[in-house]
Amino acid sequence: MNTISRVGVVGLGTIGAQELALWQRAGLQPIGYDISEARARVPGGSTRVEDLDPADALVLCLPNLAPSGENSMAAFDHFIDMAQRLSPRERLVVIASTVPIGFTRHLAERLGHHGRVVSHAPERFDPGRGTELGEIPRVVGALTEQALDATLALYARAKVPTHRVEPVEVAEASKLLENSFRLVNISFINEFAELCRRMGIVAADVIDAAATKPFAFMAHQPGVGAGGTCIPTMPRYLLDAARQNGIEMPILRDAVDGNEQVVNRVAEHVQQMLSTGENRRARVLVVGATYKPNYPDARASAAVAFARGLARRHDVVVYDPIVDRDGFPDELPLVRELPQGERFDAVVIALKHRDTDIAALRQMSPILMDLVRGAVEATESISSRNR
Ligand SMILES: NC(=O)c1ccc[n+]([C@@H]2O[C@H](COP(=O)([O-])OP(=O)(O)OC[C@H]3O[C@@H](n4cnc5c(N)ncnc54)[C@H](O)[C@@H]3O)[C@@H](O)[C@H]2O)c1
Repeated sequence: MNTISRVGVVGLGTIGAQELALWQRAGLQPIGYDISEARARVPGGSTRVEDLDPADALVLCLPNLAPSGENSMAAFDHFIDMAQRLSPRERLVVIASTVPIGFTRHLAERLGHHGRVVSHAPERFDPGRGTELGEIPRVVGALTEQALDATLALYARAKVPTHRVEPVEVAEASKLLENSFRLVNISFINEFAELCRRMGIVAADVIDAAATKPFAFMAHQPGVGAGGTCIPTMPRYLLDAARQNGIEMPILRDAVDGNEQVVNRVAEHVQQMLSTGENRRARVLVVGATYKPNYPDARASAAVAFARGLARRHDVVVYDPIVDRDGFPDELPLVRELPQGERFDAVVIALKHRDTDIAALRQMSPILMDLVRGAVEATESISSRNR
């Protein structure tokens, strides 16, 4: 394989846009390709697969979910077809997406002559954290020594630290392990927060106390459940692998199922707190709509799912100063600034961005449910009404 002088990035969403910037900084004149015209409208972007032809390496940042939210590798099927339009010279293909175990081998076979030099370097970006893509070490596995060396050398040019693994399935499984580890912890802390609530103690106080231990404890925050397009869904690929290999993974399965139930459990709790009976619609302010703090993306947001469910019974207003309008449902009223002076029957904090003004929220309602702390504050009359 010749030296890599140009990189093509396939899929220009959250991750592809970051990869494009990474290779731009590294001086590799990236070419971006996306089927969406809106996404391709970036410097070096195109909706014509043929424009990838000059690239010596292709970094695949394709989705692994269907628009419905189900796990699906259909975007890769489509790209395999489109890749046949490229000239048949040897190129490095790096899969940056999260994929099922065994998928890299499978993709290489299906790519035919385009699949001779294939590696997997799963992306570990955490939006909203403030960490640059290049600062996060990449685990790299490949199908051949040549592909492994070429991928390690490529990321070295962008000064990205790498960790080499063999066989390639180790790279695939490591990414699924990371996502699953996170989901199990989030599901557990939400379960624990529910216990604390029933026992009348504040989950965050317990977590803060436990976090003073300098080892073997990692603090997680409760909330309305894990959202977004990775943490709640990628562990399903690990469950598929378990099934195919004849074992159950009950801890992981419960974490996946339990996460889906948090939204309903919290909604029931709010219903009890309001104790309005079937007929009266209460006014509820839901604080936070994105799928994680300090990041505007509302795709697959648990806070939105919660607000939507609650809006079937009550008049819900959502307050989020940063959420993207794109991923936010049209039917839910959204305010960007705190509706100062207005009164609500309850304020529910589903998510806290930086600088959330708790003191101001406290003034707006007799009930303040802070799901992030696992704490409920209510005036005397209301708390006694609910005992
Ligand atoms: N977003 C994250 O925080 C994050 C973090 C780590 C890993 N990942 C992984 O990275 C991958 C990409 O995630 P994302 O968040 O960037 O997804 P995304 O939905 O934001 O972007 C995917 C892009 O691919 C495009 N696309 C779809 N089908 C295509 C096709 N056939 N050909 C060309 N383009 C196509 C879409 O138009 C879209 O612009 C996923 O595997 C995800 O699991 C994401």
